[in-house]
Amino acid sequence: MRYIGNKENLTDFIYETLKDNGIEGESLFDFFSGTASVAKFFKEKGFKIYSSDIMYFSYVLQEAYIKNNGYPEFKKLLNKITVIPTTLIYKNYDLVLTYLNNLKGKKGFIYQNYSPGGTKELDKPRMYLSDENAMKIDAIRSTIEEWKKEELINHNEYYVLLATLLESVSFYTNVAGVYAAFSKKWDPRALKPFEMRSISLIEGNQQHEVFCADSMELLDKVEADIIYLDPPYNQRQYAPNYHLLETIAKYDSPDIYGVAGLRPYDEQKSTFCNAVTALRDLEIIAKEGNYKYLVLSYNNEGIMQEEDIKEVLSKYGDLKLIEKTYGRFKSHSRTKNAAKKVREQLYILKNSYIREF
Ligand SMILES: C[S@@+](CC[C@H](N)C(=O)[O-])C[C@H]1O[C@@H](n2cnc3c(N)ncnc32)[C@H](O)[C@@H]1O
Repeated sequence: MRYIGNKENLTDFIYETLKDNGIEGESLFDFFSGTASVAKFFKEKGFKIYSSDIMYFSYVLQEAYIKNNGYPEFKKLLNKITVIPTTLIYKNYDLVLTYLNNLKGKKGFIYQNYSPGGTKELDKPRMYLSDENAMKIDAIRSTIEEWKKEELINHNEYYVLLATLLESVSFYTNVAGVYAAFSKKWDPRALKPFEMRSISLIEGNQQHEVFCADSMELLDKVEADIIYLDPPYNQRQYAPNYHLLETIAKYDSPDIYGVAGLRPYDEQKSTFCNAVTALRDLEIIAKEGNYKYLVLSYNNEGIMQEEDIKEVLSKYGDLKLIEKTYGRFKSHSRTKNAAKKVREQLYILKNSYIREF
């Protein structure tokens, strides 16, 4: 999924860096889980995972990829619905997606608020999704909810279908990366007919724990060998930037506002989007967290300054900073065409006050 700060391409670097520095463990707390890419990677490496995020759509992904261990059978549902398989080899999960992909579109909350047809009365009709795709998403989302209500699908099946929907939606939205604004012209990908695209689930037999919470509130509830921190790097809050995914995940018909149709997000503001409160909370995590190693991903353009981070963290143990120059170039407005590389940073703190687990 396209997501600001997605660490999918950095997991190997993180893992190798930890190994090179002699950091081992059996459990990891992905404190700012987002797309759950780090949690997924470490789950596959055999770690017991705890993960959390303040966004509900992230929680849906965590339920599907982390807590759920494999492809659910959808037994009860498949006794009730009729689907003709489209391939010779298929999983029950694929059958359910085929069924959902063949539903007739429906004019629900997403159509009425995020497609041009549904918002034609507005000064600027919203162009997040084509009319047809918005109706398809409404039909699929409401069917999943009905199945849950009628107990035709269990907990894992529900979250696997929701995660599939969220991952799929991001291929068809008419946005330039984030959802804070829609594009004024149609991106060709947004005009393709919407389809639920199957996602790769991780087999396993360990019990993992996932949360939708301000992770600061979990500090005294979770003990893990490694706490992995990947906080927001700048003032941009995640909630308004991913409001549409949140609304599809919750499907709670919120009182939306503004040109972009934002949902209220007072409860989902992150203290890590402000340098002072970010440093304050970083120190609380370092001080009160139950961990052997605290690993912070950050970069040299973040709102917390390197010297301040070092000062805060080094009070609680041995601190190392490992850097990797990232392939992303950033053009500078003052020196036009000049390019600047971003340094991806990994702060590793070995807790000198390790409590017995
Ligand atoms: C840089 S992103 C994490 C990206 C993630 N590592 C990935 O690979 O997708 C930061 C995440 O922190 C979440 N967040 C911010 N403040 C939070 C808090 N206090 N508690 C829980 N999650 C928070 C945001 O919603 C966002 O998903």
